[in-house]
Amino acid sequence: METERPSLEGRFSFGLCYLRAMDAALSDFILDLPKVELHCHIEGTFEPELMFSLAERNGVQLPYPSVEKLRTAYDFSRLQDFLDIYYEGMNVLRTEQDFYDLTLAYLERINAQNVRHTEIFFDPQGHVSRGIAFDTAFIGITSALDHAEREFGISSELIMCFLRHLDEEDAFRTLDQAESFRHRIRAVGLDSGERGNPPEKFTRVFAEAAARGYLRVAHAGEEGPPAYIVGALDSLGVDRIDHGNSCLEDEELVRRLVREQVPMTVCPLSNVRLCGVPSIDHHPLKKMLDLGLKVTINSDDPAYFGGYMNENMEAVTTALGLDRRHLVTLTRNAIDAAFAPEPRRQALHEELDLFVATRND
Ligand code: ADE
Ligand code: ZN
Repeated sequence: METERPSLEGRFSFGLCYLRAMDAALSDFILDLPKVELHCHIEGTFEPELMFSLAERNGVQLPYPSVEKLRTAYDFSRLQDFLDIYYEGMNVLRTEQDFYDLTLAYLERINAQNVRHTEIFFDPQGHVSRGIAFDTAFIGITSALDHAEREFGISSELIMCFLRHLDEEDAFRTLDQAESFRHRIRAVGLDSGERGNPPEKFTRVFAEAAARGYLRVAHAGEEGPPAYIVGALDSLGVDRIDHGNSCLEDEELVRRLVREQVPMTVCPLSNVRLCGVPSIDHHPLKKMLDLGLKVTINSDDPAYFGGYMNENMEAVTTALGLDRRHLVTLTRNAIDAAFAPEPRRQALHEELDLFVATRND
Protein backbone atom coordinates (compact mmCIF):
# COMPACT_ATOMS: atom_id res chain seq x y z
CA MET A 1 0.00 0.00 0.00
CA GLU A 2 1.04 3.59 -0.62
CA THR A 3 2.22 5.15 2.63
CA GLU A 4 2.84 8.78 3.34
CA ARG A 5 6.51 9.77 3.23
CA PRO A 6 6.95 13.02 5.12
CA SER A 7 9.41 15.67 4.10
CA LEU A 8 12.87 15.51 5.58
CA GLU A 9 11.95 18.29 7.94
CA GLY A 10 8.76 16.46 8.92
CA ARG A 11 10.70 13.30 9.65
CA PHE A 12 13.08 14.99 12.00
CA SER A 13 11.10 17.63 13.81
CA PHE A 14 7.36 16.88 14.21
CA GLY A 15 7.14 20.38 15.60
CA LEU A 16 9.37 19.33 18.49
CA CYS A 17 12.94 20.24 19.12
CA TYR A 18 14.92 17.13 18.45
CA LEU A 19 16.82 16.92 15.22
CA ARG A 20 18.62 13.62 15.41
CA ALA A 21 18.68 11.85 12.07
CA MET A 22 16.95 8.53 11.70
CA ASP A 23 18.14 5.69 9.51
CA ALA A 24 16.00 5.91 6.34
CA ALA A 25 15.42 2.15 6.22
CA LEU A 26 14.12 2.20 9.80
CA SER A 27 11.92 5.14 8.95
CA ASP A 28 10.47 3.19 6.01
CA PHE A 29 10.01 0.17 8.26
CA ILE A 30 7.84 2.30 10.57
CA LEU A 31 5.89 3.72 7.66
CA ASP A 32 5.11 0.31 6.22
CA LEU A 33 4.57 -1.58 9.49
CA PRO A 34 0.86 -2.57 9.68
CA LYS A 35 -0.01 -0.70 12.86
CA VAL A 36 -2.75 -0.78 15.49
CA GLU A 37 -3.82 2.21 17.56
CA LEU A 38 -5.65 1.73 20.86
CA HIS A 39 -5.72 5.21 22.36
CA CYS A 40 -6.90 8.16 20.33
CA HIS A 41 -9.56 10.72 21.32
CA ILE A 42 -11.45 11.56 18.16
CA GLU A 43 -12.01 15.12 19.40
CA GLY A 44 -8.22 15.34 19.80
CA THR A 45 -7.73 14.78 16.07
CA PHE A 46 -9.32 18.16 15.30
CA GLU A 47 -6.66 19.87 13.16
CA PRO A 48 -6.78 23.69 13.30
CA GLU A 49 -7.46 24.01 9.54
CA LEU A 50 -10.55 21.81 9.80
CA MET A 51 -11.60 23.57 12.99
CA PHE A 52 -11.56 26.94 11.23
CA SER A 53 -13.39 25.56 8.24
CA LEU A 54 -16.18 23.99 10.36
CA ALA A 55 -16.37 27.13 12.52
CA GLU A 56 -17.06 29.15 9.39
CA ARG A 57 -19.62 26.61 8.13
CA ASN A 58 -21.45 26.76 11.48
CA GLY A 59 -21.11 30.50 12.07
CA VAL A 60 -19.07 29.89 15.23
CA GLN A 61 -16.55 32.53 16.28
CA LEU A 62 -13.28 31.00 17.48
CA PRO A 63 -11.36 32.96 20.13
CA TYR A 64 -8.28 33.02 17.82
CA PRO A 65 -7.85 35.11 14.68
CA SER A 66 -6.02 32.47 12.64
CA VAL A 67 -4.82 28.88 12.40
CA GLU A 68 -1.31 30.06 13.26
CA LYS A 69 -2.45 31.90 16.40
CA LEU A 70 -4.46 28.88 17.50
CA ARG A 71 -1.39 26.66 17.08
CA THR A 72 0.71 28.98 19.22
CA ALA A 73 -1.81 28.43 22.03
CA TYR A 74 -0.80 24.75 22.07
CA ASP A 75 1.84 25.39 24.68
CA PHE A 76 0.89 23.28 27.67
CA SER A 77 2.44 22.88 31.10
CA ARG A 78 0.02 20.23 32.32
CA LEU A 79 -3.03 18.20 31.34
CA GLN A 80 -5.56 20.85 32.41
CA ASP A 81 -3.99 23.50 30.11
CA PHE A 82 -4.64 21.17 27.21
CA LEU A 83 -8.13 20.16 28.35
CA ASP A 84 -9.26 23.81 28.47
CA ILE A 85 -8.35 24.24 24.79
CA TYR A 86 -9.62 20.78 23.85
CA TYR A 87 -13.11 21.50 25.21
CA GLU A 88 -13.08 24.92 23.54
CA GLY A 89 -12.24 23.28 20.19
CA MET A 90 -15.06 20.75 20.56
CA ASN A 91 -17.57 23.57 20.68
CA VAL A 92 -17.25 23.93 16.90
CA LEU A 93 -18.70 20.43 16.35
CA ARG A 94 -22.45 20.86 15.86
CA THR A 95 -23.85 18.53 13.19
CA GLU A 96 -23.62 14.89 12.19
CA GLN A 97 -21.65 16.05 9.14
CA ASP A 98 -19.10 17.78 11.42
CA PHE A 99 -18.47 14.57 13.36
CA TYR A 100 -18.30 12.65 10.10
CA ASP A 101 -15.77 15.08 8.59
CA LEU A 102 -13.65 15.06 11.76
CA THR A 103 -13.56 11.27 11.93
CA LEU A 104 -12.96 10.76 8.23
CA ALA A 105 -10.04 13.22 8.26
CA TYR A 106 -8.42 11.15 11.03
CA LEU A 107 -9.06 7.89 9.17
CA GLU A 108 -7.60 9.25 5.93
CA ARG A 109 -4.46 10.27 7.79
CA ILE A 110 -4.00 6.94 9.50
CA ASN A 111 -4.72 5.12 6.27
CA ALA A 112 -1.80 6.99 4.72
CA GLN A 113 0.29 5.76 7.68
CA ASN A 114 -0.82 2.13 7.28
CA VAL A 115 -2.74 1.85 10.54
CA ARG A 116 -4.90 -1.23 10.05
CA HIS A 117 -7.06 -1.13 13.17
CA THR A 118 -7.98 1.69 15.51
CA GLU A 119 -9.90 2.00 18.78
CA ILE A 120 -11.08 5.53 19.31
CA PHE A 121 -12.53 7.33 22.31
CA PHE A 122 -15.33 9.83 22.17
CA ASP A 123 -16.58 12.13 24.92
CA PRO A 124 -20.40 12.30 24.67
CA GLN A 125 -20.71 14.47 27.79
CA GLY A 126 -18.57 17.13 26.10
CA HIS A 127 -21.26 17.37 23.42
CA VAL A 128 -24.51 16.68 25.27
CA SER A 129 -23.62 19.35 27.86
CA ARG A 130 -23.67 21.99 25.09
CA GLY A 131 -26.92 20.82 23.55
CA ILE A 132 -25.64 18.41 20.90
CA ALA A 133 -27.58 15.13 20.97
CA PHE A 134 -25.75 11.90 21.75
CA ASP A 135 -27.08 10.50 18.45
CA THR A 136 -25.56 13.35 16.43
CA ALA A 137 -22.03 12.59 17.59
CA PHE A 138 -22.50 8.83 17.51
CA ILE A 139 -24.00 8.64 14.00
CA GLY A 140 -21.46 11.06 12.50
CA ILE A 141 -18.51 9.18 13.99
CA THR A 142 -19.72 5.66 13.19
CA SER A 143 -20.72 6.56 9.61
CA ALA A 144 -17.11 7.57 8.99
CA LEU A 145 -15.79 4.43 10.71
CA ASP A 146 -18.03 2.27 8.52
CA HIS A 147 -16.86 4.15 5.42
CA ALA A 148 -13.20 3.57 6.35
CA GLU A 149 -13.81 -0.13 6.86
CA ARG A 150 -15.35 -0.40 3.39
CA GLU A 151 -12.92 1.89 1.55
CA PHE A 152 -9.62 1.39 3.38
CA GLY A 153 -10.10 -1.93 5.19
CA ILE A 154 -9.40 -0.21 8.52
CA SER A 155 -11.31 -1.96 11.30
CA SER A 156 -12.33 -0.04 14.39
CA GLU A 157 -13.87 -0.17 17.83
CA LEU A 158 -15.54 2.69 19.65
CA ILE A 159 -14.95 3.47 23.33
CA MET A 160 -17.26 5.85 25.16
CA CYS A 161 -15.45 7.84 27.84
CA PHE A 162 -16.92 9.32 30.99
CA LEU A 163 -15.51 12.70 31.96
CA ARG A 164 -14.08 12.14 35.41
CA HIS A 165 -14.37 15.78 36.51
CA LEU A 166 -18.17 15.33 36.32
CA ASP A 167 -20.16 13.31 38.82
CA GLU A 168 -21.33 9.72 38.93
CA GLU A 169 -24.93 10.70 38.16
CA ASP A 170 -23.90 12.34 34.88
CA ALA A 171 -21.93 9.22 33.95
CA PHE A 172 -24.95 7.00 34.67
CA ARG A 173 -27.11 9.26 32.49
CA THR A 174 -24.56 8.89 29.68
CA LEU A 175 -24.55 5.11 30.05
CA ASP A 176 -28.33 5.16 29.60
CA GLN A 177 -28.12 7.44 26.55
CA ALA A 178 -25.78 4.92 24.94
CA GLU A 179 -28.24 2.06 25.39
CA SER A 180 -29.69 2.09 21.86
CA PHE A 181 -26.17 2.15 20.39
CA ARG A 182 -24.88 -0.65 22.58
CA HIS A 183 -24.08 -2.84 19.56
CA ARG A 184 -21.44 -0.41 18.27
CA ILE A 185 -19.79 0.72 21.53
CA ARG A 186 -17.33 -1.92 22.65
CA ALA A 187 -16.06 -0.39 25.88
CA VAL A 188 -16.35 2.44 28.34
CA GLY A 189 -13.40 4.56 29.40
CA LEU A 190 -12.50 7.32 31.85
CA ASP A 191 -10.74 10.52 30.83
CA SER A 192 -10.37 14.28 31.53
CA GLY A 193 -8.64 15.79 34.61
CA GLU A 194 -7.09 12.94 36.58
CA ARG A 195 -5.81 14.63 39.72
CA GLY A 196 -8.46 14.74 42.43
CA ASN A 197 -10.75 12.43 40.47
CA PRO A 198 -9.78 8.90 41.52
CA PRO A 199 -11.19 5.86 39.75
CA GLU A 200 -13.25 4.91 42.82
CA LYS A 201 -15.58 7.82 42.04
CA PHE A 202 -16.92 5.65 39.20
CA THR A 203 -16.90 2.16 40.74
CA ARG A 204 -20.68 1.76 40.50
CA VAL A 205 -20.92 3.11 36.94
CA PHE A 206 -18.22 0.74 35.74
CA ALA A 207 -19.89 -2.18 37.53
CA GLU A 208 -23.14 -1.37 35.74
CA ALA A 209 -21.29 -0.99 32.41
CA ALA A 210 -19.71 -4.42 32.97
CA ALA A 211 -23.14 -5.89 33.73
CA ARG A 212 -24.36 -4.45 30.42
CA GLY A 213 -21.51 -6.17 28.61
CA TYR A 214 -19.03 -3.34 28.01
CA LEU A 215 -15.29 -3.86 28.23
CA ARG A 216 -13.54 -1.26 30.37
CA VAL A 217 -10.49 0.98 30.21
CA ALA A 218 -9.42 4.03 32.19
CA HIS A 219 -6.81 6.75 32.00
CA ALA A 220 -4.65 6.20 35.06
CA GLY A 221 -1.15 7.23 36.04
CA GLU A 222 -0.92 9.93 33.37
CA GLU A 223 -0.70 12.66 36.01
CA GLY A 224 -2.15 10.70 38.90
CA PRO A 225 -0.29 8.49 41.38
CA PRO A 226 0.25 4.71 41.10
CA ALA A 227 -2.70 4.24 43.49
CA TYR A 228 -4.99 5.40 40.66
CA ILE A 229 -3.70 2.54 38.49
CA VAL A 230 -4.41 0.09 41.30
CA GLY A 231 -7.86 1.68 41.67
CA ALA A 232 -8.57 1.32 37.95
CA LEU A 233 -7.65 -2.37 38.12
CA ASP A 234 -9.35 -3.27 41.39
CA SER A 235 -12.33 -0.92 41.58
CA LEU A 236 -13.16 -0.52 37.89
CA GLY A 237 -11.97 -3.92 36.65
CA VAL A 238 -10.34 -2.46 33.57
CA ASP A 239 -9.00 -4.58 30.72
CA ARG A 240 -6.30 -2.03 29.82
CA ILE A 241 -4.68 0.97 31.45
CA ASP A 242 -4.51 4.15 29.38
CA HIS A 243 -1.05 5.72 29.95
CA GLY A 244 0.03 4.17 33.27
CA ASN A 245 3.43 5.89 33.37
CA SER A 246 3.39 6.50 37.11
CA CYS A 247 3.48 2.73 37.77
CA LEU A 248 7.27 3.12 37.64
CA GLU A 249 7.09 4.80 41.06
CA ASP A 250 5.81 1.56 42.62
CA GLU A 251 7.89 -1.60 42.20
CA GLU A 252 5.19 -3.88 43.53
CA LEU A 253 2.69 -2.48 41.04
CA VAL A 254 5.17 -2.97 38.19
CA ARG A 255 5.59 -6.60 39.24
CA ARG A 256 1.82 -7.03 39.21
CA LEU A 257 1.38 -5.37 35.78
CA VAL A 258 4.12 -7.59 34.35
CA ARG A 259 2.73 -10.73 36.00
CA GLU A 260 -0.81 -10.04 34.78
CA GLN A 261 0.42 -8.66 31.43
CA VAL A 262 -1.98 -5.73 31.72
CA PRO A 263 -1.90 -3.81 28.44
CA MET A 264 -0.85 -0.17 28.76
CA THR A 265 -1.54 2.40 26.05
CA VAL A 266 1.47 4.70 26.24
CA CYS A 267 1.38 8.03 24.36
CA PRO A 268 4.93 9.39 23.99
CA LEU A 269 4.42 12.75 22.26
CA SER A 270 1.45 13.46 24.52
CA ASN A 271 3.65 12.89 27.58
CA VAL A 272 6.22 15.34 26.22
CA ARG A 273 3.66 18.01 25.31
CA LEU A 274 1.89 17.75 28.67
CA CYS A 275 5.23 17.80 30.50
CA GLY A 276 4.84 14.34 32.01
CA VAL A 277 8.44 13.83 30.87
CA PRO A 278 11.03 16.59 30.42
CA SER A 279 11.83 15.52 26.84
CA ILE A 280 11.42 12.58 24.50
CA ASP A 281 14.94 11.40 25.43
CA HIS A 282 13.67 10.93 28.99
CA HIS A 283 10.63 8.93 27.98
CA PRO A 284 10.34 5.67 29.97
CA LEU A 285 8.98 3.57 27.08
CA LYS A 286 12.19 1.57 26.58
CA LYS A 287 12.50 1.00 30.31
CA MET A 288 8.87 -0.21 30.38
CA LEU A 289 9.59 -2.64 27.54
CA ASP A 290 12.75 -3.88 29.26
CA LEU A 291 10.80 -4.48 32.46
CA GLY A 292 8.38 -6.72 30.54
CA LEU A 293 5.36 -4.41 30.73
CA LYS A 294 2.84 -4.94 27.93
CA VAL A 295 3.13 -1.49 26.43
CA THR A 296 1.78 -0.11 23.16
CA ILE A 297 2.36 3.18 21.32
CA ASN A 298 -0.51 5.57 20.65
CA SER A 299 -1.16 9.15 19.58
CA ASP A 300 -3.74 10.32 22.22
CA ASP A 301 -4.65 13.74 20.75
CA PRO A 302 -2.52 13.92 17.61
CA ALA A 303 -3.72 17.31 16.35
CA TYR A 304 -2.58 18.91 19.61
CA PHE A 305 0.56 16.93 20.42
CA GLY A 306 2.55 16.95 17.20
CA GLY A 307 1.89 13.64 15.57
CA TYR A 308 -0.04 10.54 14.69
CA MET A 309 1.16 6.93 15.01
CA ASN A 310 4.21 7.16 12.74
CA GLU A 311 5.47 10.37 14.33
CA ASN A 312 5.14 8.81 17.79
CA MET A 313 7.00 5.67 16.70
CA GLU A 314 9.71 7.66 14.97
CA ALA A 315 10.17 9.93 17.96
CA VAL A 316 10.75 7.11 20.46
CA THR A 317 12.77 5.06 18.01
CA THR A 318 15.16 7.93 17.39
CA ALA A 319 15.37 9.19 20.95
CA LEU A 320 15.55 5.82 22.74
CA GLY A 321 17.41 3.78 20.15
CA LEU A 322 14.64 1.26 19.49
CA ASP A 323 15.16 -1.35 16.80
CA ARG A 324 12.82 -3.34 14.55
CA ARG A 325 12.22 -6.01 17.15
CA HIS A 326 11.00 -3.40 19.61
CA LEU A 327 8.64 -1.96 17.01
CA VAL A 328 7.25 -5.38 16.16
CA THR A 329 6.80 -6.22 19.86
CA LEU A 330 4.92 -2.95 20.41
CA THR A 331 2.65 -3.77 17.48
CA ARG A 332 2.10 -7.36 18.62
CA ASN A 333 1.21 -6.09 22.07
CA ALA A 334 -1.38 -3.78 20.50
CA ILE A 335 -2.93 -6.61 18.48
CA ASP A 336 -3.07 -8.84 21.58
CA ALA A 337 -4.70 -6.04 23.57
CA ALA A 338 -7.17 -4.96 20.88
CA PHE A 339 -10.90 -5.31 21.52
CA ALA A 340 -11.50 -6.49 17.95
CA PRO A 341 -13.19 -9.88 17.54
CA GLU A 342 -10.80 -12.85 17.57
CA PRO A 343 -10.85 -13.48 13.78
CA ARG A 344 -9.83 -9.88 13.15
CA ARG A 345 -7.02 -10.06 15.70
CA GLN A 346 -5.87 -13.25 14.05
CA ALA A 347 -5.86 -11.52 10.64
CA LEU A 348 -3.87 -8.60 12.06
CA HIS A 349 -1.29 -11.01 13.51
CA GLU A 350 -1.02 -12.76 10.15
CA GLU A 351 -0.55 -9.44 8.34
CA LEU A 352 2.19 -8.52 10.80
CA ASP A 353 3.85 -11.96 10.44
CA LEU A 354 3.89 -11.58 6.68
CA PHE A 355 5.35 -8.10 6.93
CA VAL A 356 8.11 -9.29 9.27
CA ALA A 357 8.89 -12.27 7.04
CA THR A 358 9.22 -10.15 3.92
CA ARG A 359 11.13 -7.23 5.48
CA ASN A 360 14.68 -8.43 5.74
CA ASP A 361 16.23 -5.42 3.96
N1 ADE B 1 -9.05 13.77 27.04
C1 ADE B 1 -8.44 13.93 25.88
N2 ADE B 1 -7.13 13.70 25.98
C2 ADE B 1 -6.90 13.35 27.28
C3 ADE B 1 -5.75 12.98 28.01
N3 ADE B 1 -4.54 12.89 27.45
N4 ADE B 1 -5.89 12.71 29.32
C4 ADE B 1 -7.09 12.78 29.90
N5 ADE B 1 -8.21 13.13 29.25
C5 ADE B 1 -8.11 13.40 27.94
ZN1 ZN C 1 -5.96 9.94 26.33
